[in-house]
Amino acid sequence: MALLEILKYPHPLLKKKCEKVERIDEEVRRLIQDMRETIYHASGIGLAACQVGIPRRIIVVDVTPIDPEKDFFALVNPEVISEEGEMEHEEGCLSVPDCSEKVKRKEKILVRGLSPEGNMIEVSGEGILAIALQHEIDHINGMLILDRISRLKREIYRNKLKKERRKEEKS
Ligand code: NI
Repeated sequence: MALLEILKYPHPLLKKKCEKVERIDEEVRRLIQDMRETIYHASGIGLAACQVGIPRRIIVVDVTPIDPEKDFFALVNPEVISEEGEMEHEEGCLSVPDCSEKVKRKEKILVRGLSPEGNMIEVSGEGILAIALQHEIDHINGMLILDRISRLKREIYRNKLKKERRKEEKS
């Protein structure tokens, strides 16, 4: 297993709609294992393959730090089957450092996809699991939390980032 480098905003791959996985092979399974190790190391609760430079529809989710009842899982080619309700919760993203913003999400969600073994599985989630699923599915559609907040907040974040870059260049 290996730790993978997580791409940061504004990397162009984070804006790309990712391609479907046609065949789940050893390479895909290895990637999923590496993504699993990478979120543990980064203390994240989810990761999409595009965040580590692979523009394919693969996500991993592990909300156990927040909800110990749940298990780690990976989904290949996840699709939203149904969703209901609304909620708003503060979210962060490993690709958008130092950003924590309230994002509107569906309260409950049912997602279907393939397991790393190639079996069709369904995952239903509410609360933190619903948030993580929606957040990661956003990633494979080229969407970041920055695309789900107001333009003003987005501008503030961009300016903060620019300022930090300038500071780094000077030092
Ligand atoms: Ni994210």
